[in-house]
Amino acid sequence: MLDTRISRRAALMGAGAMAAWLASPARALLAAAGRVQTPAFIGDLIRRMTLEEKAGQLQLMASAWGGGVALALNPPQENSDFPKQVDEARKGLLTGVFNGNGARMAQILQTAAVKESRMKIPLIFAADIIHGHRTIFPVPLAEVASFEPDLARRTAEAAAFEASGAGIDWTFSPMVDVARDQRWGRGVEGGGEDPLLGSVFAAARVRGFQGASLKSNEHLLACIKHFAAYGAAESGLDYNVVDISDRRLREVYLRTYKAGFDAGALSAMASFNEINGVPSTGNHWLMTDLLRGEWGFQGFVVSDYTGDEEMIAVGFAKDGRDAAKIAFLAGVDMSMQSGLYRQYLPSLVRSGEVPQAKLDESVRRVLALKAMLGLFDDPFGRIDLKRESARSMLPQTRALAREAGRKAIVMLKNEGNLLPLPRSGKRIALIGPFAAGQHDLVGPWVVYGDDAKAVDLATGVRAAVANPSSVTVAQGSGVEEPLAGGIGQAVAAARAADIVVLAIGEGANMSGEAQSRTEIIVPPPQQALAEAVAATGKPLVVVLKHGRALALEGAVANAEAILATWFLGTETGNAIADVLFGAYSPSGRLPASFPLRSGQEPYYYAHKPTGRPNPPGELQPYKAHFRGIPNAALYPFGHGFTYGRIEYSGLRLSGPTLPMDGTIEIAATISNRGTRSAEEVAQLYIHDRVASITQPVRVLKAFRKVPLAAGQSEVVRFTLRPSDLAFIGPDGRWITEPGAFDVWIAPSAESDGVHGSFDLVA
Ligand code: NOJ
Repeated sequence: MLDTRISRRAALMGAGAMAAWLASPARALLAAAGRVQTPAFIGDLIRRMTLEEKAGQLQLMASAWGGGVALALNPPQENSDFPKQVDEARKGLLTGVFNGNGARMAQILQTAAVKESRMKIPLIFAADIIHGHRTIFPVPLAEVASFEPDLARRTAEAAAFEASGAGIDWTFSPMVDVARDQRWGRGVEGGGEDPLLGSVFAAARVRGFQGASLKSNEHLLACIKHFAAYGAAESGLDYNVVDISDRRLREVYLRTYKAGFDAGALSAMASFNEINGVPSTGNHWLMTDLLRGEWGFQGFVVSDYTGDEEMIAVGFAKDGRDAAKIAFLAGVDMSMQSGLYRQYLPSLVRSGEVPQAKLDESVRRVLALKAMLGLFDDPFGRIDLKRESARSMLPQTRALAREAGRKAIVMLKNEGNLLPLPRSGKRIALIGPFAAGQHDLVGPWVVYGDDAKAVDLATGVRAAVANPSSVTVAQGSGVEEPLAGGIGQAVAAARAADIVVLAIGEGANMSGEAQSRTEIIVPPPQQALAEAVAATGKPLVVVLKHGRALALEGAVANAEAILATWFLGTETGNAIADVLFGAYSPSGRLPASFPLRSGQEPYYYAHKPTGRPNPPGELQPYKAHFRGIPNAALYPFGHGFTYGRIEYSGLRLSGPTLPMDGTIEIAATISNRGTRSAEEVAQLYIHDRVASITQPVRVLKAFRKVPLAAGQSEVVRFTLRPSDLAFIGPDGRWITEPGAFDVWIAPSAESDGVHGSFDLVA
């Protein structure tokens, strides 16, 4: 195993920055945030509990209320008997439920727990608040495209405000799995392909959900998931195995989880996958040695949905009893949905296979968090029927959803400045399965949001133009099936218009859990629609809906303008219209590279060089490329245009060298030579030219969003320390090696921007 004694923030910062970090007031705050305080009465409670009651505190179940909306979002299970669930609460056999329906349900269950059970221990109510509760914000991946972590903090806080008003104490969020294979469907829930970007968003979301105090009835306990490396599933197939070097695990995949814990998240969810032959749910090294030993995590770990039981199917546990024992001894405190903990933990303790002290310790962790959430002080603190509706979909929350929506949009292409469109004087044909209608708006992983309450594209566009009757709508195609006569109608609409806006892409059910795709393309019937519409020769704006990076081809790739709009949630139509008609200059940047073809996946910008790179230009024989296409992105990580005309110039380094005990400042001038204001995301990348371990062609080290009025120039400055250049060396330790480094300040991971170099000197 690699030595990581550098620990805590080192995976993010490197050793040099550590010194400054250790002395900083921010660290003191964070350390307090991640600390669990156990009130004295909890020890007394534990002493009085039976083994069955203790095991009950470690068993979380899907809510059975109303037939169980919770179960619709997970594999079906026998669990729709709500009165039985109330009885379990009464008997102390349940720690809480998840994905239930609102304050009324919580009130009934909580009453049974705190008024009618022997120990009167409050239940905890959990839910998948992934990108909003009732007001739905952009999917997490889209929000990361804003490159504005504080936006994610604000939307998490707003989601917590709504959800905590509906009786929810705990969100299964943020999902922070680094995803470098776009075939995997769950990248939509996370922070993209880059660990630095993913880490700052993970931390921001934790702060937003949890706020300054978990006791606040406007905040929620955050849960870092899926621990660990769930996004590295082989071939992008959901639930598949992960076989990975310790180096890559540490340098890339573990960093985002660590960032979330360092920001104070006090719960974690075990991932479904195995890592190098050991399922995470049964991985003692991961759940105990690393998480608690090395990282000092003080909260509790919950399994994913039946994750403990699934160790039987993979051949790691022989039966349910064995699975419960393995998961619990590995360090998974709480079991979700299988029921195995309450079924087997009491007898495992009686037989001596599980130490009583270990059981008590897990119960203490769970009860301490319940106390921190204020549940013992006021079990009904978040359960208030009036507050639930009073907090739901407030105008300011919708306004935030619109702001987040427009900031998440990435303008991939804008030939001839087709965008922004004029608000009057042009007839617009709005074509495609996502042009109009209350469907596919809130996107994947929504428990409580409602498409019917969201603004579709046609409504947003009609509200933005001077004359709504200048907009015609034609569906043209289904999402994955052709529509009889659809293409003919769409072509007629295009011919009768001056401009075509083509809203195509993935349906909401095409990404998310268990939605891996072999071809990450626009579905063929929609591609056919695009070809036919493009053949009319009308100016074409493609508005993509998608939960992952796509491989764009043909008429879609060749359109004059392309907007990547993901799933933007409640304010979808208004947010897109804001960008289409220039009320907002697009400022989003890709958090995941769009490859040229699906077959390049996993494609990510920070790949290693090969010994035979193809030089820029023509493909050459015996060089690293695919047949017919280079090993490059169509649109790389970090890419995105604005309505300004941005230029990079004048790279300046504070000196030719970076001493081992010093810093180097890297600056460049960013100018907006256009006629419209814009926000540019300046990105600092480095490349270590020669090292004892080969290094990626580029690695993002910092970024900054810079507002620029028309004609304005700004100097952006970044500071690098030697620790920022650290990597895991041949002996498994973080090291910093002297030598030459390339540095870029650039508008994307594969553009030149401005480029220089410096030497790190001993
Ligand atoms: C399974 C998913 O993997 C996880 O992310 C989610 O929180 C649980 N189901 C509960 O719905």
